[in-house]
Amino acid sequence: MPIDVDSVREDFPILSIKNDGKPLVYLDSAATSQKPKKVINAVTRLYRKYNANIHRGVYRISELATGEYENSKKSVAKFVNAAGMEEIVYTRNATEAINIAALSWGEQNIARGDRILITEMEHHSNIIPWQMLAARKGAYLDYVKIDRDSYTLDYASLEEGLAKSPKLVSVTHASNVLGTINDVKSIARKAHEAGAKMLLDAAQSVPHMPVDFRDIDTDFAAFSGHKMLAPSGIGVLYAKRGLLDQMQPVLGGGDMIKTVDYQEFSSNDLPWKFEAGTPNIEGAIGLGAAVKYLKKLGMENVREHEKALTRYALDKLSGIKNVSVFGPEDVEMRAGVVPFEIDGVHAHDIATIFDSEGVAIRAGHHCAMPLVTQVLKRTSLSRMSFYVYNKEEEVDKAVGAVTKVKNKFMIE
Ligand SMILES: Cc1ncc(COP(=O)(O)O)c(C=O)c1O
Repeated sequence: MPIDVDSVREDFPILSIKNDGKPLVYLDSAATSQKPKKVINAVTRLYRKYNANIHRGVYRISELATGEYENSKKSVAKFVNAAGMEEIVYTRNATEAINIAALSWGEQNIARGDRILITEMEHHSNIIPWQMLAARKGAYLDYVKIDRDSYTLDYASLEEGLAKSPKLVSVTHASNVLGTINDVKSIARKAHEAGAKMLLDAAQSVPHMPVDFRDIDTDFAAFSGHKMLAPSGIGVLYAKRGLLDQMQPVLGGGDMIKTVDYQEFSSNDLPWKFEAGTPNIEGAIGLGAAVKYLKKLGMENVREHEKALTRYALDKLSGIKNVSVFGPEDVEMRAGVVPFEIDGVHAHDIATIFDSEGVAIRAGHHCAMPLVTQVLKRTSLSRMSFYVYNKEEEVDKAVGAVTKVKNKFMIE
């Protein structure tokens, strides 16, 4: 069922604001998403009606808060088809989730001379934790190349990387810069055949398309709540139960223990073993509400909506002289992310002029410097990105802003 974008927009209070009389055109959802009333209300309802710490109180509101926190985990587990909430560890964000995998599984399983395989299209969150681990252990970090013409992974380069028997393959599901959607199911299969574990950076996929971790057969996955309509400060580390059982906790403190004596402790059951201290209760409850909202829209419909908008934007931009767009041409292989440049104009100037038209876009290296500077040979790029609340008229406004930039800089 197509998304009724006008009715969806009614759910997002921020979309009715104006800056200097111009309505907000928010085209930066790959950075963070806006929040629907259902999420805002779920969070304020906690504060107004049952705010208390979880897993501690034996009184009514603490039990209510604990129940809602755990319900959130159960719905997240179902949303990504995990085997159960034991496989869902709440973190601050995708970045923290990947770091926990590196600091726990990586610390225990990567040794001197081992190899870790990532790709040239990773976000810094899926590069730096592996650089740090490799430096600590004396391991090697290898990169799967990107095909410079199609902006997809070079699968021959993947085979070369796998032939070196890496211990881990860590790859993004969808690129936050190019939008490229990788064939992660086949990458997971090949990684396993090569004897490696697989980590999926799902920060740009779980919010935007149906994603089934068990079908992909990934060992680990990471994503952030704030990119999928939920509050910031809540993210997810998914891992197969057998791995989480073997992994040591990274942070110690309250709630992650079963027993403690003067010298030793025993770890709590999953997933609490990895959640030391009071967690982000309101974030978790907001994430539960966000998942419910997305499920009601239907993830297939979300994906179709974004595909149509991306096709529309690519068609509009490709007809404009002196404007270049990057990323796969085929929207079947592309998330709702459209990076572009205007000849001779810095991305920050573009974003500033867009802002004067009420259009919010991202400009810079997009936390993917190896991709932007080494592969694309750019210092920065502008990027539009879409979500459930965006509509074609907003793309038209962005295209109008492109004309304004060109006029201002006297570009033909
Ligand atoms: C592909 C990808 N991975 C990881 C991240 C990191 O997300 P967070 O900053 O929420 O940890 C982002 C954020 O833009 C991303 O796009």
